[in-house]
Amino acid sequence: MITKQEIVHNILKQTKVYNEQDKTKLKLNLLNKKSTAYAPSNIALCKYWGKRNLELNLPVTSSLSLSLGNKGATTTVGLHISEHSKDRVILNGAEVDETSDFYLRLVKYLDLFRLDNNFYFNIETNLNIPYAAGLASSACGFAALVLALNKFFGWNLSLKDLSILARIGSGSAARSLYQGFVYWHKGTLDDGSDSYAEKIEVDKFFDEVRFGLLILTDKKKSIGSTDAMNITTKTSVLYQSWPNQVNQDLSLFKEALSNKDFSLLGQTAENNALAMHATMQSSIPAIYYSNSQTVELMHKIWNLRNQGLDVYFTQDAGPNLKLLFLESDKVKIRKEFDNIEIVCPFIN
Ligand code: PMV
Repeated sequence: MITKQEIVHNILKQTKVYNEQDKTKLKLNLLNKKSTAYAPSNIALCKYWGKRNLELNLPVTSSLSLSLGNKGATTTVGLHISEHSKDRVILNGAEVDETSDFYLRLVKYLDLFRLDNNFYFNIETNLNIPYAAGLASSACGFAALVLALNKFFGWNLSLKDLSILARIGSGSAARSLYQGFVYWHKGTLDDGSDSYAEKIEVDKFFDEVRFGLLILTDKKKSIGSTDAMNITTKTSVLYQSWPNQVNQDLSLFKEALSNKDFSLLGQTAENNALAMHATMQSSIPAIYYSNSQTVELMHKIWNLRNQGLDVYFTQDAGPNLKLLFLESDKVKIRKEFDNIEIVCPFIN
């Protein structure tokens, strides 16, 4: 089976810097360099749940997301020069503990890009969304890191290749390189070279779509998405119907986007999220991310909809809900939900 290292090598060997410069010279050029990049978080309207290849984060199905505009990660990459041979990682201004899962996962990923055995990174990330609470912080984190590495090393890679590199860090990061509606092709090849995300062009009508973040907790989730996906794919009988659900929903999204039909878009997103949670709830052991407040809010949203308000929700690997509605209903939504944070999915 092809390894991550081989995939990275195959992508980087197309770049000028990787081939032409000798590594010592390149390292000298990087000594005082720092590169910064921003990537938005993204919320899947049609979810990715289940991997066909664990190591390479290759998904069972394609997925579709909408970005979170100016909510995301800003990452700066530089070299870490010190007598200690290790990477330095700063998250929201605080040095990350070297024994934490976060640090170990990042260092393993950075191993793929070191120029030699004595090459250490200084990584500073600022997130303006809660970490690990189902708001795709790892997605924007890995996407911002890949964009910053691309600038730092001067690779000049295409967005397709950068999406593949981001996917190797965290599946949904493949979709965080773009603003707006994004489609991640599941691909069929074993090396994942056809499993990448692309921006979808849609009518200006959809500029009016808003996300409402109902953050019920910013605590770390009870079970990480990778473990939860594995338990679901292995034990949930309902998972067998998940690829059909996704295929059906992807055609409904296509219809909604071409007919400028917001209600169909929202209804399909809500149904897709509920179906994903149903598959994981029927796993052994059951995976249940909602808390009592999540369920209460779902009923509130259904009631509001029965009264004529065009509002829908989606939910990821955590108890928080993300509402979907149009700018014209913003005032009504604010009145109904005290602590809602309204986010425009796009920035110009
Ligand atoms: O990329 P991961 O491992 O964080 O998984 C993302 C899983 C969901 O957020 C629930 C769905 C999705 O498509 O983003």
